[in-house]
Amino acid sequence: MEGGVASARTRTCLAIVLAAGEGTRMKSELPKVLHAIAGAPMLAHVLRAVAAAGGKAAVVVGPGQDTVAKAAQKVIPDAAIFTQTERRGTAHAVLAAAEAIRKGADDILVIFGDTPLIRPDTLQRMRGVLAEGAAIAVVGFRPADPTGYGRLVTKGDTLIAIREERDASPAERAIMLCNGGAMALAGAHALKILTEIGDDNAKKEFYLTDAVEIAARKGLAAKVLEIGEDEVLGVDNRTKLARGEAMMQEKLRAAALEAGVTLVAPETVFLCADTKLGRDVVIEPYVVFGPGCVVEDKAVIHAFSHLEGAHVGVGASVGPYARLRPGAKLGKGAKVGNYVEVKAATIEDGAKVNHLSYVGDARVGQNANVGAGTITCNYDGANKHLTDIGANAFIGSNSALVAPVKIGDGAYVGTGSVITDDVPADALAIGRARQVVKEGYAERLRKMIGMGKKKPSG
Ligand code: UD1
Repeated sequence: MEGGVASARTRTCLAIVLAAGEGTRMKSELPKVLHAIAGAPMLAHVLRAVAAAGGKAAVVVGPGQDTVAKAAQKVIPDAAIFTQTERRGTAHAVLAAAEAIRKGADDILVIFGDTPLIRPDTLQRMRGVLAEGAAIAVVGFRPADPTGYGRLVTKGDTLIAIREERDASPAERAIMLCNGGAMALAGAHALKILTEIGDDNAKKEFYLTDAVEIAARKGLAAKVLEIGEDEVLGVDNRTKLARGEAMMQEKLRAAALEAGVTLVAPETVFLCADTKLGRDVVIEPYVVFGPGCVVEDKAVIHAFSHLEGAHVGVGASVGPYARLRPGAKLGKGAKVGNYVEVKAATIEDGAKVNHLSYVGDARVGQNANVGAGTITCNYDGANKHLTDIGANAFIGSNSALVAPVKIGDGAYVGTGSVITDDVPADALAIGRARQVVKEGYAERLRKMIGMGKKKPSG
């Protein structure tokens, strides 16, 4: 007999992901599998696991679910898309992809698109069970409450049937080992088994689970691969979505800690599945990462910061209370301090934007210093324009840089300036009204105000 997981790598595989559910229980306009966990649609998590496990992918969507197809092909561009025109059960959904099965693969994996915590390793192990000679491998788990799940009926180490709860006898309902949903079928037998499945059951649906009894009748073996309950969480309502999010965050935080990142209060840090954190990065409490963030080694993200689509360079410092929006790029040792928002802007090595600023559509050159309250006025109501600040430039506090505008290397901008014209390198630009001092005027003013005062009534 071949050697399990090792030989699974040499076998071909087709993963069929069932994503046709509308998710009525989500009470949402968004198809169920597009609801996000850790910044990515549930379907994307499943497909990433599929991609890591190797082979081709087919995704079964519902009628008109183009958005689901697009989301799938964003993860696996050559994923084949099939439409299940009517919802008639899990086997019916798999058969929507019959054409892909017919092309031939050693292993056919069937995975539900609403199980975002499924791990690539589990898919590999299921393939390993087929490689060892079984015709079917099913993931089993033992939930605290088995209500609603299909029960795995076994004889010795062989799975002889899966009984849906509605169709189960009292004795079968007492079985605690349940069907997690994911199934692997030997490609050589898959279509023959699937096309024999009927709808003679309580729901009048074509149950994928009936594949087990049909295989047994053909003298083909089915096996159970027991895994933890968390991995098979099927998310079909918002409570389970929140539970899935919490479980995914736990996983991501654990992986970050393991990789050499300090999370001062892990339970308060929210990561995305694609967040990349370098070694010796320190994340203070209450930091939220949206999709597309990279934080390089030794950078510090101070408390209460929000990052999305941002790249933070080696040893850079962000926050507290900073917001990095898509396209924010911080160089080595750059500093973005409290109440600073950065969008589509590069803050080059050693540059500082320390307090209360908006820097959008801009470049802040190396070692430049942007004073408190500086605003890049990037939007004229119709178009966005660029602000280019040269290396070692110094922007005085409370300045408005009206883009498009260029501040040369080493230039100075006086505090409170409104800069509308380019400033050459090493020049000083002051764009504000000259101060007027009127001796004794304050005293006169007070008298004038006092004269005008009305007597309090009553
Ligand atoms: C299924 C299993 C059950 C298992 C449970 C684990 C069957 C018959 N039952 O039950 O044994 O314990 O999962 O969660 O397989 N889908 C389609 N098209 C359809 C029907 C379903 O795409 O026509 C998709 C659903 O959107 C969902 C998945 O398949 O993502 C499971 O379908 P559902 O009908 O919810 O099965 P369960 O009742 O959860």
